[in-house]
Amino acid sequence: MPMTSGEIRKKFLEFFKARGHAVVVSSSLIPDDPSVLLTTAGMQQFKPYYSNPSAADADFGSRNTASAQKCFRTSDIDEVGDESHLTFFEMLGNFSFGGYFKKEAIRYAHEFLTKEMGIKISYVTIFEGKESIGVPKDEESRSIWQSLGVVDIREESMDDVFWGPTGLGGPCGPTTEIYCKNAAGQDIEVWNLVFNEFFFPGPRDDLLRGNAKLAELSQKGIDTGMGLERLAMISQNKKNIFETDLFAPLIQTIVIPRADKNTERAKRIIADHIRASAFLISDGVRPSNKGVGYILRRLMRRVLVYGAGDTSLLHRIGEQYGDFYPELRNNKENITNVAVEEYTKFSRAMKRGLDELEKSDRIDAKKAFQLYESYGLPYEVIKDFRQSIDVTREQFDKEFIKHQEISRAGAEKKFGGHGLILDTGELKAGTEEEVKIVTRLHTATHLLQAALRKVLGEEVHQMGSDITSERTRFDFSFPRKVTPAELKEVEGIVNDVLKKDYTVDRQVMSYEEAAKLGALHFFKEKYPKEVSVYTVRNKATGEVFSRELCGGPHVTHTDEIGEFKILKEESSSAGVRRIRATVG
Ligand code: SER
Repeated sequence: MPMTSGEIRKKFLEFFKARGHAVVVSSSLIPDDPSVLLTTAGMQQFKPYYSNPSAADADFGSRNTASAQKCFRTSDIDEVGDESHLTFFEMLGNFSFGGYFKKEAIRYAHEFLTKEMGIKISYVTIFEGKESIGVPKDEESRSIWQSLGVVDIREESMDDVFWGPTGLGGPCGPTTEIYCKNAAGQDIEVWNLVFNEFFFPGPRDDLLRGNAKLAELSQKGIDTGMGLERLAMISQNKKNIFETDLFAPLIQTIVIPRADKNTERAKRIIADHIRASAFLISDGVRPSNKGVGYILRRLMRRVLVYGAGDTSLLHRIGEQYGDFYPELRNNKENITNVAVEEYTKFSRAMKRGLDELEKSDRIDAKKAFQLYESYGLPYEVIKDFRQSIDVTREQFDKEFIKHQEISRAGAEKKFGGHGLILDTGELKAGTEEEVKIVTRLHTATHLLQAALRKVLGEEVHQMGSDITSERTRFDFSFPRKVTPAELKEVEGIVNDVLKKDYTVDRQVMSYEEAAKLGALHFFKEKYPKEVSVYTVRNKATGEVFSRELCGGPHVTHTDEIGEFKILKEESSSAGVRRIRATVG
């Protein structure tokens, strides 16, 4: 009997536990690091420990850890449906922050695969070296592999076998990858062992472009990652990941009503997207037109166009993974509600959109974007339903970004034609009139945050916000109830600004510049290199009242807003308070 994926996960963690590793639970799919949108690797939650190993002693009682981590890679979304690509996947990993290095890491991996799992290694890769960054060929790894009897050792370049840094900088170093054969005889990369010897203080692109000499970390680190789905495919002797116990039972229950769309590829896409949606929703993501919310929306809509939007598939995911990831079980109701709401919102527009798609003879970038704008059809749906289109993902994204810029510049511009005029995830408005109100409430929300910080101190940080034409709802970190006197003071400060008519202007600058200027930002967001910053200023004195990273839209003068009124203050969750307020 082959091992189940549940048994493999357990075996991996126990193997490393028995070898002095602290087993750490998966972190959220939404990372704390604001420079990355999603968790794409097991090492992300451990990033700070590579430069500060003693913190690991304090946090884990060990410098060595192991985990099964929830990961999501958007770069693979167009490949899903083939033999090995997924959006969401689980990564098994062992990590060391100055505890051990190459010899132990390679030996552990070899022992786990060949002895514990009984798998044969097909070949391994090592780093060929790169002079311009001062890193030589990895002869040490070669000789360790040789000492273990591995003979097929291939040299590869920076593109394949040099990890990191992720985000705006961090640890990085050469890697060695392990390949094994699946039942179809294909060599599959199963495990990646990273030797974090260096630290680079900028993004990976800068490292690749420049002639940067890397700084050595004072204590070298290990970061390994092995896809559970791929390991299960090899261990269960399957030809592709969808034949493993992680997917086969789920795929069997998928019913696609339209006979012409009932393909194996479509079923794989649905299985992947359903699983990913359940995990994203249980980590707090909600469908929207921005950031991670937009990714979730696309996954859910693609499932729906195939006619597989029945929530029983989502329930199956909860049952399959609930023991190991209790957040799925605990969020059962949230997951159903979010799905029903999104499916209901989209289904009518979708039907009209698919008709329109069928009628159009040529789909170029403009037409594709119009189908998205008017009916909410994401790019991949258009591609799935048409044999040939004249638009690449890059062209579509360009059109999308162009449009977002326009919609930020002027709140009057429509965002979506099926009643969704503005939905950024934070701001929601269904008519032009409502767009005007939420724009005023949006600027008022920035003023509210600045006033709260003046009255309660700088420990106040935005934890969330939701603005409808009825009210703004602002969540912020603060440990106790805000007193009525404090609320009066906050309200007074905001109204003072509204009466005096401060200016609101938008500037585009680098993230670093914005951070230097002290612009506030909501920490769970990804910011690109260029960010837009809104500043509220007293024109007479030049005093900056509020400055935040924000996509807008905002009013240009605070006297357009009207009177500000706090309706309610309450607890939102532990350490987080919630204020509702109106303007008018
Ligand atoms: N960080 C590396 C990867 O994601 C190894 O864990 O492949």
